[in-house]
Amino acid sequence: MTAATALDTTPEALCRIAADVAGRAGRRILELRRSGVSVAATKSSDNDLVTEADRESERMVVEALREARPHDGILGEEGTGIPGTSGITWVIDPIDGTTNYLYDLPAYAVSIAATVPDEAAFADGRRAVAGAVYNPRTDELFDAWEGGGARMNGAPIRVSDKGDLATALVGTGFGYTTERRLEQLVVLQRVLPRVRDIRRIGSAAYDLCLVGAGRLDAFFEHGLQPWDYAAAALVAREAGAGLLGRDDKTPPGEPLIFAGNPALVNALRDLALAR
Ligand code: IPD
Ligand code: CA
Repeated sequence: MTAATALDTTPEALCRIAADVAGRAGRRILELRRSGVSVAATKSSDNDLVTEADRESERMVVEALREARPHDGILGEEGTGIPGTSGITWVIDPIDGTTNYLYDLPAYAVSIAATVPDEAAFADGRRAVAGAVYNPRTDELFDAWEGGGARMNGAPIRVSDKGDLATALVGTGFGYTTERRLEQLVVLQRVLPRVRDIRRIGSAAYDLCLVGAGRLDAFFEHGLQPWDYAAAALVAREAGAGLLGRDDKTPPGEPLIFAGNPALVNALRDLALAR
């Protein structure tokens, strides 16, 4: 059975589920934020945080997806790993931008994607066919399904048409370990002097949606995990973005992801990798 025939519903219907659940979980974490934030644990470094709200959001999303789609698998940033039988795996980030959540900075989001196996599309071997990213602080809901375009709060969005790196606003992000950050600094040294400016907004899912909405001209990051990009890379692509990996043989994903309007994205990769 191919991945496509395993879909027992349309990508549009999966997108509606993703948007509904992301909206509900997003409103819940916003409500929880009012009574303060409690850090529950750290992960790859002391700065890689997990809050009680991350856990509650993941629990809520998993419960809702299990109810709506009992035969699907689920992979969640905070530890969920449920195998499915339908061919669809939901990839979820209960709060992307946890550091922003802690500091009450308005750039964090719940990200939910319905994915199918596809070794060629992304480095983690999955491709989103539908997804939603909800930033509850700004009440912005981005959603997309394959072939259906991308929207913000229901209105179609489109990447910018900037073709010149020198005037491009470029988003990026940094990992949590010293080693990774030192590598990222080397790349940043090449890019920063040659673009309009850099934004480190603090949520890769939101960054990629902003590329889709033309509010960042491009984005790149090394070290993202599937839950950081699954839904938002689909939003960006459906809004017209090109997505590239480290080289033409490596699909975008953990090793590197570049996203931007097609006139810019190759030039950005060449600049970042000094080719
Ligand atoms: C992080 C954010 C950040 C990116 C990191 C991610 P988290 O996710 O997306 O912008 O730079 O690489 O790990 O930890 O807030 O879920
Ligand atoms: Ca994340």
